[in-house]
Amino acid sequence: MTRLEFRVHELTVGQLAERSGVAVSALHFYEAKGLISSRRTAGNQRRFSRDALRRVSFIKVSQRVGIPLSEIKRALATLPEERTPTVADWARLSETWKTDLDDRIAQLQKLRDDLTECIGCGCLSINKCALTNPYDQLGDEGPGPRRLLVRHGDAPHADGAQSTPSAPSATAAQGDSQAEPCADDIC
Ligand code: FES
Repeated sequence: MTRLEFRVHELTVGQLAERSGVAVSALHFYEAKGLISSRRTAGNQRRFSRDALRRVSFIKVSQRVGIPLSEIKRALATLPEERTPTVADWARLSETWKTDLDDRIAQLQKLRDDLTECIGCGCLSINKCALTNPYDQLGDEGPGPRRLLVRHGDAPHADGAQSTPSAPSATAAQGDSQAEPCADDIC
């Protein structure tokens, strides 16, 4: 039973952990990284406003779909600190993330759907490679699986594969570096 009494406006770290399903150690980590904040009581105990639950949930789900903590932090920084964020505040955050999320969805769909095809990685290990990447011609475009990469603004090839710009977008580059430290098992 993790239901919180509805009159509770401030949570201990234990209550926040229990209701969010995120370990206390991870909450401390998020706070140290500036993703959530608390006030201290006279006895130096943390108290979180109840809307921290929404922030922690946002962090948890975002991390689960592979969004780096640095990006999550940047998004959360657009919310007001001094009051409970409104629907309009969350809508603004959502709007700034829309393009990035669309790109991630497109990439995940390609990862799901195209692994039986030649992905243009240079391995030439399946029979389709001779046809779609003869002599590893796609290697001339740059590193990586040239037919699998989805980056913002890519125009599709005539055969449905994505074109591959020479430099990754900032967002894609951030997504490539997933080595965020995490104190929990939710990364
Ligand atoms: S799958 Fe690697 S080059 Fe075709």
